[in-house]
Amino acid sequence: MFRSPRDFFKAKVVGAPDPVREIPVRPSRMIHFFDPSNPKMAAKVGDIAKKVDIILGNLEDAVPIDRKIDAREGLVSIAKETDFGTTQLWTRVNSLDSPWFLDDLLRLVGEVGDKLDVIMVPKVQGPWDIYFVDQLLAQLEVKAGLQRPILIHAILETALGVANVEDIANASPRMQGMSLGPADLAASRRMKTTRVGGGHPGYLVRTDPDPVNPEAERPTAQQDLWHYTISRMVDACASVGALPFYGPFGDIADLVACEDQFRNAFLLGCVGAWSLHPNQILIAKKVFSPDPDEVKWAKRVIAAMPDGSGAVMIEGKMQDDATFKQCQVVFNLAKLIAERDPEYRELYGF
Ligand code: GLV
Ligand code: MG
Repeated sequence: MFRSPRDFFKAKVVGAPDPVREIPVRPSRMIHFFDPSNPKMAAKVGDIAKKVDIILGNLEDAVPIDRKIDAREGLVSIAKETDFGTTQLWTRVNSLDSPWFLDDLLRLVGEVGDKLDVIMVPKVQGPWDIYFVDQLLAQLEVKAGLQRPILIHAILETALGVANVEDIANASPRMQGMSLGPADLAASRRMKTTRVGGGHPGYLVRTDPDPVNPEAERPTAQQDLWHYTISRMVDACASVGALPFYGPFGDIADLVACEDQFRNAFLLGCVGAWSLHPNQILIAKKVFSPDPDEVKWAKRVIAAMPDGSGAVMIEGKMQDDATFKQCQVVFNLAKLIAERDPEYRELYGF
């Protein structure tokens, strides 16, 4: 099903840039979406780019059909005119079964391929979709004379895509990562929700009746609709060195629930989430930057175990190789974020 391991890291077209061996790990706390067909939004892109880790020009859903070409051409001009500094520029192109996908890729890679870090491909169903985009990108990279490969990010938003998530992650060295797409996934699975991400009050567990007082109120707790999918996505990504993300949270006014959802994803292993509004940028920044107290603890554990082996007790808690490794994850992420973000450099004391 897959290419021979000998060929996996060979360029797919003569003259195309060599595939990357490792997916670059950069602070990626939020992927901020903007609509390049909306001149008001387009005018703010330069400023917003300074406040986010990733800025993404969206060509797919949420862009009306009669503005698809404006969005594509708008992104071409914005990419040419804007200095993004060290902020990553991504795009979400239209899906492979749409009439816009081919021209999205032709125009963007041809005109601004050198500025694009990652192409987000929606509604990925299986590895075959990635093979197709991979080969086409290699063709277009040669044509455009690009020196570095453009990476692919898949949205996990169809039932078939979830069923194939490991194969998607393994399909190409270009696989930068994946995002959970809870809105389309809900539709594809025929879930009976009408929301973009988040929980649902009907999805709950209830305590047993009180044997003494069966009429007493029985507390309930809402459960997380996305736990299973995020966990599968995290394992599929982590197993190949790719990066998993929570996707969109549609209730822009509910900052508390957005923060909870993002934090669950962070704790489970995700590196970031989409932001659809400036308020969500702040939430993602707070949630996906490790808590300064956790960083302090991580530093303490690492200092107590210089070579990471053996066992020590700190405040009654057993530390060994495995907690040392967990602390390294937190510490290394904090270091990476501190290099980019002066506010966190100070908070972490680096
Ligand atoms: C995102 O594209 C989603 O469908 O949730
Ligand atoms: Mg979608």
